Amino acid sequence: MVDARAAPMQRQSFSAFSPRDPLIAASILSADFARLADDAKCALLAGADLLHVDVMDGHFVPNLSMGPALCACLHRALPTAMLDVHLMVTDPAQYLEPFARAGASHITFHIEANGNAAELAARIHALGMSAGIAIKPDTPTSAIEHLLAHFELLLVMSVHPGFSGQKFLESALPKVAHLRTLVPDAVRIQLDGGVNASTAKRCRDAGGDVLVSASALFGTPDYSLPIRQMRLD
Ligand code: DX5
Ligand code: ZN
Repeated sequence: MVDARAAPMQRQSFSAFSPRDPLIAASILSADFARLADDAKCALLAGADLLHVDVMDGHFVPNLSMGPALCACLHRALPTAMLDVHLMVTDPAQYLEPFARAGASHITFHIEANGNAAELAARIHALGMSAGIAIKPDTPTSAIEHLLAHFELLLVMSVHPGFSGQKFLESALPKVAHLRTLVPDAVRIQLDGGVNASTAKRCRDAGGDVLVSASALFGTPDYSLPIRQMRLD
């Protein structure tokens, strides 16, 4: 059994990485929940830069996943890991403080969810975290273009949110390329869903620089191989 607390030192904010360096976010949705900290630590040791925590409320998306208690356990076990929380919930406002207390470094919520996006971003910043705004596959970039100044990260979903293991939607790529022309290099653009060794290069070429991966990583015997391929190939 690995001592999960002996994880390597990670960087806990996007500003600690060089701008535009491609980052790999290991989505723990496909990890082994029975040995979550060890599995997450293996992903970090294999080269993942951050842990992506997919939070689903069974209402915004047709699935239930994890909440602040699990995030807090993961933070206790891996205190230096950057926890990137992706809220797929109808009412993000009620979860900002609980995830901040649970050790989240970053929170992304959806433009399609309830609430005033600029106010939610301000609350996330006041809690000491960076903020991201996400769009579903059917949402155009114009839905967030007036809000870009409030966010450190833009998340373009490349599958319909709710489940790992779906096929990459190519329609995400022109959205990423367009958003990249609108924001400085310091703003991260994340793709989430169906990212693997064969789709990652197109994501990076379009201007994406945070690649989320669940099944292509946790579904393999050696996590370092897909991570290297997604970062470099
Ligand atoms: C989907 C989640 C993703 C998911 C990605 O709603 O937001 O983070 O875990 O899974 P893969 O990489 O298997 O498509
Ligand atoms: Zn996600």
